[in-house]
Amino acid sequence: MEKKKIKDAQGKLGVLVVGVGGAVASTFIAGTLITRKGLGIPVGSITQLATIRLGKREENRFPKIKDAVPLAKLGDIVFGGWDIFEDDVYAAARHAEVLTVEDLDKVKDELSSIKPMKAVFDQNFVKRLHGTWVKSATTKWDLVQQVREDIQKFKKDNDCARVVCIWCGSTEVFTELSKVHKTLPALEAAMKENSPEIAPSMIYAYACLAEEVPYINGAPNLTVDMPAIWDFAEQKQVPILGKDFKTGQTMLKTVLSPMIKTRMLGLSGWFSTNILGNRDGEVLDDPGSFKTKEESKLSVIDNILQPGLYPELYGNVYHKVRINYYPPRKDNKEGWDNIDIFGWLGYPMQLKVDFLCRDSILAAPLCLDLVLFTDLAHRAGMSGIQTWLSFYFKSPMHDFDHIAEHDLFIQYVKLKNTLRTMIGEETIDFID
Ligand SMILES: NC(=O)c1ccc[n+]([C@@H]2O[C@H](COP(=O)([O-])OP(=O)(O)OC[C@H]3O[C@@H](n4cnc5c(N)ncnc54)[C@H](O)[C@@H]3O)[C@@H](O)[C@H]2O)c1
Repeated sequence: MEKKKIKDAQGKLGVLVVGVGGAVASTFIAGTLITRKGLGIPVGSITQLATIRLGKREENRFPKIKDAVPLAKLGDIVFGGWDIFEDDVYAAARHAEVLTVEDLDKVKDELSSIKPMKAVFDQNFVKRLHGTWVKSATTKWDLVQQVREDIQKFKKDNDCARVVCIWCGSTEVFTELSKVHKTLPALEAAMKENSPEIAPSMIYAYACLAEEVPYINGAPNLTVDMPAIWDFAEQKQVPILGKDFKTGQTMLKTVLSPMIKTRMLGLSGWFSTNILGNRDGEVLDDPGSFKTKEESKLSVIDNILQPGLYPELYGNVYHKVRINYYPPRKDNKEGWDNIDIFGWLGYPMQLKVDFLCRDSILAAPLCLDLVLFTDLAHRAGMSGIQTWLSFYFKSPMHDFDHIAEHDLFIQYVKLKNTLRTMIGEETIDFID
């Protein structure tokens, strides 16, 4: 295997989070700071906990990924970001009520010192929120310039060698891919003309790429999933990736569907419903934002089961996804799945799953892994869509010539093999 030339992870890594005052963002940041003080275990993080087998089994080489691959150190990370509310990250995390006050107080000073920069916000794209800490400008193009200045200032003030941006902001209303998203000149013209087809997330993404900052999209928004931005990312030699963190119900779907298919069992229906009571739940209560999420959640089953190849087993699947805002549960989402399957001679059976999860506790380690792997990819000279990180997304980005891979374990093999290739090791075709 030819080893990739990977630039050293020297100096500070700036991590700019859009929606830095949100539940996921504040849980990610607090957890990272607690971990680097040695006061907590980063459970769920592949970069921090997983090993990677190198060479033949009998060589017995199973280093931790973080020791085998030149990732940035947690101690070198500096956090910043934008939000539509002015609260610092300590106050925001208290409001989110995901982590206990006892845990948050372990890193109170650090969290309190992270104050959001004013956001790019447009009420038309998130109907349920009313931002008060928002930039103003005559055109969307002017907003791009303001975000670029924010990035430059953050980088300088914090003496960062590199910066990565991750969207942990609210889910925007569904935006259809249209003419303005297809080429870079059309996208730039649309920004200058204040086109309603330009969402705030696109403004952040464009500004990041212009500053050679990789962009990770944790929500299902269109944002970087358009030919104009694919081209821009290649032109600037910057990684882009998304969409929508795969954390709970959809992660289960991408594990159970391959099981059903591998055994050639049939599927007639899959009903998924959720209750959650955090701000994300409130935003998703709006039909426009829900549609964006729904599209992202629905694509998974068909892709894995291939109904075209198996019409007698998967040709008539009724798939429904529901999310209900239910304030008493706060961030502790409950997701139920009722799965109607059939076996030998078509006899019906049912599977029931009840996942009592914690949304941000599941999402936080993904944020950490994505930031570190994306920075690694950038230093390794990889640019454009990072399909090797599909493992982390419900709706993995791909160009028009490829299809997405949804099976969690195939995604995992691909992730690890990409790491092996980067460090000049042989690839392995199965899970180690
Ligand atoms: N398990 C999970 O939690 C999970 C899984 C997949 C995707 N997501 C997505 O991650 C995102 C964050 O989830 P959350 O639970 O933290 O939600 P949240 O509502 O707590 O946080 C979102 C934050 O974004 C801010 N915001 C909204 N628009 C903004 C803008 N234009 N610029 C800057 N800030 C903006 C809000 O003020 C808020 O602080 C959501 O889009 C959610 O759908 C979460």
